[in-house]
Amino acid sequence: MKLPSAARYIWAVLLFIFTVWILLLSFPKKQHQLSITHEFGIGFDLSPSYATVAVSYPNGSIQSIARVEGNQSYREMMLRLSLLSSQHLHQPYQDVGEAIRDSARRTVRNTRKELGLPSSRDVGILSNMINDLRDQASISVGEPISAAAISIPHLVALYGEDLHDAFEYLSLVYLEFFPFSNFRPIHASIAAYAGNGLGLCEDYRDIATCEEEELHIPPQFALSVSYTHTSLTTSQAHISNAYYLEETPTLEDLRLGYDSRHEESYWEAVRDALQYPVVNSPVRRNISMVLLFGDTTERPRFREVLEQVIDPVLGRDLDIIDQQPEFSAAIGTAELAKRAIFRQLKESNTATEL
Ligand SMILES: *[C@@H]1O[C@H](CO)[C@@H](O)[C@H](O)[C@H]1NC(C)=O
Ligand SMILES: *[C@@H]1O[C@H](CO)[C@@H](O)[C@H](O)[C@H]1NC(C)=O
Ligand SMILES: *[C@@H]1O[C@H](CO)[C@@H](O)[C@H](O)[C@H]1NC(C)=O
Repeated sequence: MKLPSAARYIWAVLLFIFTVWILLLSFPKKQHQLSITHEFGIGFDLSPSYATVAVSYPNGSIQSIARVEGNQSYREMMLRLSLLSSQHLHQPYQDVGEAIRDSARRTVRNTRKELGLPSSRDVGILSNMINDLRDQASISVGEPISAAAISIPHLVALYGEDLHDAFEYLSLVYLEFFPFSNFRPIHASIAAYAGNGLGLCEDYRDIATCEEEELHIPPQFALSVSYTHTSLTTSQAHISNAYYLEETPTLEDLRLGYDSRHEESYWEAVRDALQYPVVNSPVRRNISMVLLFGDTTERPRFREVLEQVIDPVLGRDLDIIDQQPEFSAAIGTAELAKRAIFRQLKESNTATEL
């Protein structure tokens, strides 16, 4: 049987595309060896409509550097990633079955990487933002930035994998903090906690004493609240040192920011959101602090509503932890970055001495 020539032609083209694709995937990846070239730590924090960057120097000086506004595509992406319907399989996997079911998506991502593209459209949007933050940091410190850490809000479909790929696309070293769970991102709650000077040892240069000290920081429960012009996110956070965080229950509402305050029943909705993690906790926890961050946490009306929640719902006066609320997460992330760089450089020096 003879195929009509048009069909043969299509087959030839498909075969050609397939061959090129296989070849692309099989080429060894250009692994330009990235290295860390500085001792200061750079921290990025992404919030739903803007992002911030800060630096922590080895001499102890910590500075906020810049705020970058997210444009429309950034905001739409964050809103979409806050929705349950946007969840998908992602790394790290729970089991082999997940890895197999996710292989088609991974192949698409890898193909895009091979072609020199961001691995997905979202990774492209994240890369744009991270690149702007890096440029601001580089201008401020007066040298190129080779490594950084990043914190994010706990949106249900914003995964560490995407951050990882964005850093890779930008040839930036992605600093990891959780050695046994790759791709686990730093959430803004723990970053803001560290940014308020909590959960960290006094002298990070003395690694053994530092670890011992951080091991003995007593765990406690916090009501974590991030409030911005566009969003309100809350969680009940179990925290101790700045490398540990369990957040549950959590609530993220990317439409309940301060800019919506003229809508009907707005403040009732804010009150409900603030008490959501406490009311919905399966076990009643002894919450001992309120961790507040974001660019509109200082608005008087918001503070009033927060007080109304704290008194009856949490039952007593609590510490409100809210230094530099717009920048605290970036500051904490910068401090964590500096400490991670110190450990990595020390480890690689010890390795070369051996
Ligand atoms: C620490 O170092 C940075 C960068 O070199 C400098 O800008 C800052 O003034 C220094 N701070 C102190 C307290 O020495
Ligand atoms: C958002 O900014 C990026 C660059 O940072 C740009 O490529 C993109 O087109 C912008 N999107 C919109 C909708 O303005
Ligand atoms: C709750 O926590 C605070 C501070 O951690 C502590 O002082 C208080 O005794 C605790 N209350 C209960 C009932 O456990």
